[in-house]
Amino acid sequence: MARGLVVLFSLLSVGLFCHSNSEEVTKCIDGPYHKDIPSPEGPDYVECHSWREKSCCTANFTAELQRNRVEVLYNFSWNHCKNLSQECEKFIKNQECFWSCEPNLIKWHVGEGVLKMVPICAKYCDEWFDACKSDYTCVQDWLRGFNYTNSIYSCPTNSSCRTFQEFYKNGEGLCNTMWAQSFYYEKSDNCMVMEFAPGKNPNDAVTASAPRFSTFIHPVLMFALLKIF
Ligand SMILES: *[C@@H]1O[C@H](CO)[C@@H](O)[C@H](O)[C@H]1NC(C)=O
Ligand SMILES: *[C@@H]1O[C@H](CO)[C@@H](O)[C@H](O)[C@H]1NC(C)=O
Ligand SMILES: *[C@@H]1O[C@H](CO)[C@@H](O)[C@H](O)[C@H]1NC(C)=O
Ligand SMILES: *[C@@H]1O[C@H](CO)[C@@H](O)[C@H](O)[C@H]1NC(C)=O
Ligand SMILES: *[C@@H]1O[C@H](CO)[C@@H](O)[C@H](O)[C@H]1NC(C)=O
Repeated sequence: MARGLVVLFSLLSVGLFCHSNSEEVTKCIDGPYHKDIPSPEGPDYVECHSWREKSCCTANFTAELQRNRVEVLYNFSWNHCKNLSQECEKFIKNQECFWSCEPNLIKWHVGEGVLKMVPICAKYCDEWFDACKSDYTCVQDWLRGFNYTNSIYSCPTNSSCRTFQEFYKNGEGLCNTMWAQSFYYEKSDNCMVMEFAPGKNPNDAVTASAPRFSTFIHPVLMFALLKIF
């Protein structure tokens, strides 16, 4: 038993060591167009400029985003009710960039491209709501609400087009529910932004100070635990 504990503690320290912050931000989340690891991009990177120095998305992705929004990439139209206003479209585009290009998201990645409670600055959420409040959509949850049939997203039969104002009420409702539980309306300063000057990414500091994966148990460690006890 005593020997088992020694083995357990050495395994635990290996487990913690393996999940130091430096490793967390050198891997990209899973996604159909994500790179495996973040790297700099060149002059043909035409959207998502904030991430040009260290990006999980390719220049090719940014070119597609510029050409046809996400219509060819995902068979999904932002304009499913009527065309979004330019101000609103700018924010939605930001979010596509954030999800596809931001390396820091790996810390909030719960599998298969799904994020959980990324702290987004309340100010950003409020500005985003302000830009979109008079625009239209047919579902509140853009990740799970649409009818996905034959690889195409459309408004469910019984849905009706209503304004963002009606669906979300305010910036908090918008950040906390539009992309399912991916984002969280964070009122403190320890929060992420979706646009910044290329170069120094202010979100790095948020990731560094976020709690470690406290409930995370590496499969190898789990296996070792089962063998010991
Ligand atoms: C990138 O380019 C290749 C070949 O030109 C193409 O097949 C692919 O669909 C493009 N788009 C993305 C987002 O990777
Ligand atoms: C978009 O829909 C068409 C027709 O159903 C399908 O062939 C294509 O693979 C879909 N593309 C994506 C990216 O899902
Ligand atoms: C909506 O946007 C499309 C481009 O996606 C454009 O071709 C069309 O003219 C726009 N419609 C209106 C009513 O502005
Ligand atoms: C989803 O779309 C398919 C194909 O257009 C349609 O047959 C089906 O009734 C739709 N379901 C809902 C719930 O909207
Ligand atoms: C959609 O609306 C029709 C008619 O109002 C109703 O009969 C049907 O049950 C509704 N379907 C769903 C899935 O809510």
